[in-house]
Amino acid sequence: MTAPTLAGKRVLVTAGPTFEDIDPVRYLANRSSGKMGFAIAEAAATAAAEVVLIAGPSQCQLQNPAIRRVDVRSALQMLDAVMSHIQGIDVFIACAAVADYRPATLVDEKIKKSGPRMQLELLRNPDILANVAALPQAPFTVGFAAETGTVEAHAMHKLKQKRIHMIAANCVADGQGFDRSDNRLLLLFADGRRHNLGLQSKTALARELITVIATELKSAATSAASKPGRPSTVNA
Ligand code: CTP
Repeated sequence: MTAPTLAGKRVLVTAGPTFEDIDPVRYLANRSSGKMGFAIAEAAATAAAEVVLIAGPSQCQLQNPAIRRVDVRSALQMLDAVMSHIQGIDVFIACAAVADYRPATLVDEKIKKSGPRMQLELLRNPDILANVAALPQAPFTVGFAAETGTVEAHAMHKLKQKRIHMIAANCVADGQGFDRSDNRLLLLFADGRRHNLGLQSKTALARELITVIATELKSAATSAASKPGRPSTVNA
């Protein structure tokens, strides 16, 4: 049996870290390389989807010229870019390691050192994934949970809190996951199902993840079509 495709589907992926500027020379960032998100965008395009990738600062390059790449720097810019591309999207995959907080003020001039301590006030960033999931015509939403411990419980909590369809959990303790070319994922679904994707290259992992998503879309469409009066869409 051939793997289900995403032909005719539109997929929006976020990838990489976000940089939150403090002053013209300093910023807050994290260790995300963008590899997983870029691999997912490539795998979705290989599965025949129309793909838009919203990328935070990353050294990664796309191979497939059909993928539309939009580069952003901060969480607020990523939110703007996602919201301006979300119309008509069937699948939203939030792989970016979005900064949870940003400096409360962006200083125009380089901050000079003074006393032995300094305090930086931070403001909470909006949750891009939760915002997409709360849209009236929300697409099939997939989140990621990078955890250092109690991986499954934390991931399940995020899935419920953000009201998304599926979460891909991975352990980032002891240098796993971040900035490496391999990874493993535990997929958890809102209805309690779980699925393990074993240790493999991020390219192979992304292909498996896309196959799982395509299968979910197909079975959602099939069960919607078999219920009279229900539209055959996963957006319902
Ligand atoms: N996410 C997002 N916007 C944010 C924060 C996170 O879209 N402002 C998305 C990420 O892309 C990922 C998922 O939400 O898919 C991660 O959830 P989150 O609870 O933010 O994870 P952590 O940042 O690891 O949270 P915590 O620090 O509370 O563990």
